Amino acid sequence: MERSLSMELVRVTEAAALSSARWMGRGKKEEADEAATQSMRDVFDTIPMKGTVVIGEGEMDEAPMLYIGEKLGTGYGPRVDVAVDPLEGTNIVAAGTWNALTVIAIADDGNLLHAPDMYMEKIAVGPEAVGMIDINAPIMENLQAVAKAKNKDIEDLVVSILNRERHEQTIQEIRNAGARIKLIQDGDVASAINTAFENTGVDIMLGSGGAPEGVLAAVALKCLGGELQGKLLPQNEEELIRCKNMGITDVSQVLMMEDLVKGEDAIFAATGVTDGELLKGVQYKGNSGTTHSIVMRAKSGTVRFIDGKHSLNKKPELVIKP
Ligand code: FBP
Repeated sequence: MERSLSMELVRVTEAAALSSARWMGRGKKEEADEAATQSMRDVFDTIPMKGTVVIGEGEMDEAPMLYIGEKLGTGYGPRVDVAVDPLEGTNIVAAGTWNALTVIAIADDGNLLHAPDMYMEKIAVGPEAVGMIDINAPIMENLQAVAKAKNKDIEDLVVSILNRERHEQTIQEIRNAGARIKLIQDGDVASAINTAFENTGVDIMLGSGGAPEGVLAAVALKCLGGELQGKLLPQNEEELIRCKNMGITDVSQVLMMEDLVKGEDAIFAATGVTDGELLKGVQYKGNSGTTHSIVMRAKSGTVRFIDGKHSLNKKPELVIKP
């Protein structure tokens, strides 16, 4: 893959963030998502690559754009798998709360897990705790291992987990172990990334969330030298068949980093739509919009934070007025 693709991908996530942030706090998650998707789609066409969406907005008959199998890019350049979440945290934007992102990951053709839209159990940590976690081990053991790896007491650890009824028992076990919890309403991709940055105060991400989000987070953590383990959680016969169709006959199989994103190279880009621990959200003033993005590449290990100041009167197509 060309290294210049990194910057191209940030242009895409920035455009999506600038459009969808217009919907912040307006209680309209679908509009926020559509705005992000439309902008992402428009900018993709300018990127020199032969991309195929492997994780997107749905199957061809369900989504008008960024559907699985859709071809992206100019048609010249490297052949890549593309995973997109035009708006990770639709409810977050609707409510105007924390950690909504626009997200893209790419890898060489055939290297991303084509994760179906179902739940995945996940555990994620940053570089210090790589090799120390085991999704099949009891919570206590994982917390002890991460605490040891990070040279902390369990009481000092912060675990990020989605605030869901299905997590009641896990939350209790984390509390019984003595660790602290950051309950999030949505947005487990941001939580997984946060584990790799000391200043976010998040040490470990646990619990079930979307499988596509699991692959996106795995690409981010691959670039950051962290680790995510996942297990697909089919909820019915139909989802079970989808797992089998993708070659996963044993759904209890633990998906390790190499299963989620193969090979030595991958690129991940995300722009904040609303404020988060790592990235600030979009701000507008008059004809100007500011964005904060992260872009990183697994092969080189380079992580860049990019602050953008956009002249909106020169890019009116990127700004959808609600
Ligand atoms: P959306 O942007 O599609 O709303 O997803 C947000 C999210 O919170 C993800 O971060 C997470 O993986 C998933 O939803 C959890 O799903 P659920 O809300 O069904 O628990």
